[in-house]
Amino acid sequence: MRTDTGQIIHLADYRPTDFVLERVDLTFDLHPTETKVEARLIFHRREGADPKAPLVLDGDELSLSGLLLDQVDVPASQFEATAESLTVRDLPESTPFELTITTVINPEANTQLMGLYRSGGIYCTQCEAEGFRRITYFPDRPDVLAPYTVNIIADKAANPLLLSNGNFLGGAGYGEGKHFAAWFDPHPKPSYLFALVAGDLGLVEDTFVTMSGREVALKIYVEHGKEPRAAYAMDALKRSMKWDEERFGREYDLDIFMIVAVSDFNMGAMENKGLNVFNDKYVLADPEIATDADYANIEAIIAHEYFHNWTGNRITCRDWFQLCIKEGLTVYRDHEFSADQRSRPVKRIAEVRHLKSEQFPEDSGPLAHPVRPTKYREINNFYTTTVYEKGSEVTRMIATLLGRDLFKKGMDLYFDRHDGQAVTIEDFIKCFEDASGRDLTQFSLWYHQAGTPLVTASGTYDAAAKSFTLSLEQMVPATPGQATKEPMHIPLRTALFAADGALLTPTSVTGAELTDDVLHLTARTQTAVFHDIPSRPVLSLNRSFSTPINLQLSQSAKDLALIARYETDHFARWQALIDLGLPNLLQAARDARQGIPVTCDAAFVDALLAAANDESLEPAFRAQALALPSEADIARELGGNNDPDAIHTGRQAILALIAEAGKNIFAALYDNMQTPGPFSPDAASAGRRALRNAALTYLSQSDNAPARAKAAFDAANNMTDLSAALTILAHRFPETAEAKAAIEGFRDRFAGNALVIDKWFAIQAAIPGAATLERIQGLMETPLFKRTNPNRMRALVGTFAFANPTGFGRADGAGYRFLAEEILDIDQRNPQLAARILTSMRSWRLLEPVRADHARSALMQIERAGNLSTDVRDIVDRILK
Ligand code: ARG
Ligand code: ZN
Repeated sequence: MRTDTGQIIHLADYRPTDFVLERVDLTFDLHPTETKVEARLIFHRREGADPKAPLVLDGDELSLSGLLLDQVDVPASQFEATAESLTVRDLPESTPFELTITTVINPEANTQLMGLYRSGGIYCTQCEAEGFRRITYFPDRPDVLAPYTVNIIADKAANPLLLSNGNFLGGAGYGEGKHFAAWFDPHPKPSYLFALVAGDLGLVEDTFVTMSGREVALKIYVEHGKEPRAAYAMDALKRSMKWDEERFGREYDLDIFMIVAVSDFNMGAMENKGLNVFNDKYVLADPEIATDADYANIEAIIAHEYFHNWTGNRITCRDWFQLCIKEGLTVYRDHEFSADQRSRPVKRIAEVRHLKSEQFPEDSGPLAHPVRPTKYREINNFYTTTVYEKGSEVTRMIATLLGRDLFKKGMDLYFDRHDGQAVTIEDFIKCFEDASGRDLTQFSLWYHQAGTPLVTASGTYDAAAKSFTLSLEQMVPATPGQATKEPMHIPLRTALFAADGALLTPTSVTGAELTDDVLHLTARTQTAVFHDIPSRPVLSLNRSFSTPINLQLSQSAKDLALIARYETDHFARWQALIDLGLPNLLQAARDARQGIPVTCDAAFVDALLAAANDESLEPAFRAQALALPSEADIARELGGNNDPDAIHTGRQAILALIAEAGKNIFAALYDNMQTPGPFSPDAASAGRRALRNAALTYLSQSDNAPARAKAAFDAANNMTDLSAALTILAHRFPETAEAKAAIEGFRDRFAGNALVIDKWFAIQAAIPGAATLERIQGLMETPLFKRTNPNRMRALVGTFAFANPTGFGRADGAGYRFLAEEILDIDQRNPQLAARILTSMRSWRLLEPVRADHARSALMQIERAGNLSTDVRDIVDRILK
């Protein structure tokens, strides 16, 4: 296992390599425990580089078994090899030279799942960010691009399939039961996009004709027997290819595009050139095993990885500090795709929920960092929701500032100007400045300043002057390493409504720029005056969540109810309902803590039920309205000294009050929202199921027996309904015979399907209350539990730590101690997974003192352990600091 080197990498230290890599020729002789890798690398010294500089290549747990320079053995005096690097001296000053490096690696022993590993009989690679250096010595950094030829030799019976990036060159027998295949990728790429897959898999094939009329072979490889479950992924892939042509003018650039689904994978998926590797969770679906959420995730992730072909692969990052240039931009692209394929406002609501529950806590805690960080200790820990989701929001704001046409012009310029390059955020921003003539200097602070800005707003109406004055103030909180901040450029979509719900349009605005509905807040404080407003307006601010901020604006329940009813922007309607509900949930948590009975404003309950019952609204929207902020959301809003039990009790009490008031509405919805006919995963049907299951959740809140939920469980004919019913039974009635029967029945029915069993683990891991820890420890003893499988660990340990505040945060601290022990154990095998799950502790300082003490002790237990990976060391140090 890697031990911590403690080294911190700084953006300011970036410099290009001394040597330019011209081409790469790799030969793999695959073997489960002794794979021989021969890398032939052609370099020349960069013009202007020190003529004496040695060539220094990266390695990780490597040992060198051969080194040739232009086909001749290199004498020991000329090089030095360690597990982490290979240094070669006295290389030619100006002529190209060929280095042939041989290493032998052990895929079977690679439990980190970085580099080349073997899982379930399949050879597979993951090289981003720094996995390629676990295969061979290499300049393993994203600004070293070259065309690759890859030859794969392997036992033919066990590995009928030999895949790598690019186009297939040919294959043949190789003697002794072996065969070989050769691939060539003409597009220069960095090593993190290299991939190799070998083994025996089933194939689903299709074709796509690109906008210039080229036919591309599409191939999805899955475990034998699972081919029918790849149909939806294939469909999503074709829709993605079409959409990227239509929306961004991007055409695919190889003869073949392959996706391989594997079951042991550290992340969601990986965009290797022409050969994406996916966690099978994001490929396999059919109504029996996949929920509507799974279908939506598959569609989004297939699109995301495909879109990387241009934003990431054709144009990549100069260094890992620029990660958001591919991730933030590509998330923005996949969000737009999903919005076009489904309901735009519902998609936006889901995005904002996710942003607030994942990115906002990161940005306000010890792990906060800028979208474009300036230093890191372990790059794997920077594949964060800040880089991805806030990075996407920043891209969205550029589109908002420029408008659709100029944004398109800027993107076109980016693709033209930087195709084939490894670039920086500055290069990216410059394209939009050049395309629009707009100065984005202040705007670019969004990339450099961490922390969620707080905007405080208040409005006053002057009836005599017929003007509405909006006072705005912005504050960006201090974050680790950034004590003071500059004012940001904050684009606030804004609208004013009359008491009858009509839109009020000012004749002019002074004190701030207003373009269409975008109000530009650029100073620390600013006062905008809207002229010729005939009556007191109701303000709708940050429509569509045009900017990722915390907004402090006090509005009467009456005004919020008006927005919830009349806003033309449906996101803003949803936000108004949340703003109506949140104070009730916060007060409920406080009351529950004091033992005071919980109450709820009628205005909120009425508005919520009106939305739920409004047939002019799409069911998916109504379901989103009924999903109250989570316990974690409430904890974040409370802001400190938090007692998870009180938050839970208060929230449950509010749910019960709504359930009681809406009994008839929920009963009618449950009856009427059936989806007739055979199952279809389309967005409209999914919306009906979501609304129906939301109704069932409320009905079960007022039921004091599990009969209704159990009937729903027994009647379910798809995984969405089945898992919703199981969740209600397990979470609301865990000790009943019905819940126990459902839990066992579900297990027995799906014991052979790992992805469904992950759901079974996750649902149980999220059962509220102190007893869940013992349940989890019991589950870990069952044969279905697989310690080495990342999906399984995330389902059980990850869900418990991230999504069960009362179970994980039980008052005696046993949940935190359990996590500490698990982290230390996981870290021995898979540091990346351990570090990721450990981030669940990032908000520990918001806990009340007794729990906070327990959490700190558990973190210190990790910190004191010897032999920590850099990944875990980095996270635990930052969380404790
Ligand atoms: N580039 C991949 C994606 O977002 C994710 C890779 C994650 N890598 C990591 N080291 N965590 O599509
Ligand atoms: Zn990505």
